[in-house]
Amino acid sequence: MARICHVSDTHGFFPKLLGKFDMVVHSGDFFPNSQFVWSNKVREMEFQYQWLESKIPVMKEWLQNHPFLFTLGNHDFLSAEFMAQILNAAGIKSFCLHDKITNLDGINFYGFPYIPNINGVWNYERSLDQMVPHIDLLSETLNQTYVDVLVSHPPPYKCLDLSNGNEFLGSTALSNALDFKIAQEMLPSVIMFGHIHEAQGVSMRNGMLCSNAATTQRIIEL
Ligand SMILES: [Fe+2]
Repeated sequence: MARICHVSDTHGFFPKLLGKFDMVVHSGDFFPNSQFVWSNKVREMEFQYQWLESKIPVMKEWLQNHPFLFTLGNHDFLSAEFMAQILNAAGIKSFCLHDKITNLDGINFYGFPYIPNINGVWNYERSLDQMVPHIDLLSETLNQTYVDVLVSHPPPYKCLDLSNGNEFLGSTALSNALDFKIAQEMLPSVIMFGHIHEAQGVSMRNGMLCSNAATTQRIIEL
């Protein structure tokens, strides 16, 4: 059995990780933003690169030698694969989960960073049409090989996604994939996500344990 510490939407903070666990899974919105996010995405990327380099010692202390598995979110502009390279080179065992299966300690993970369109400012924003290839890949991969944990940035639609404005802001593409495109017996045991801070919590959805850990942390045993 593995104990996974699920964190999300830390936005540049490193809240103390409490309890006993074997690995840390972050479901996106890891970085802080600068004012460049509004005007210059290359400078925003540089800002996040420099921030990450400066935070390596803090991150090592934060993780206490536990492996770090992540999906990025809409506030994150640094290349996810590059981020994993930087962390690994610094001695932090890290895995970018995006669009593929990653196995750690016998657990299969798959990462999905894509969110429904907001206003074109943020990373990983996709229209329903643009979601199609990502959803096809997700569905094909999960139907082929059993994935224990899906680590998504957005919640599935109507699953821990109710905003303060009384709108369900989760991904319909993701909920449709789970309901209609992935075979019932191949559905993951756990879906970890964040994105909608005010809807954090846990629930069950069609036999899957769903965890929205936005701005908080939760230990999930698997
Ligand atoms: Fe966030």
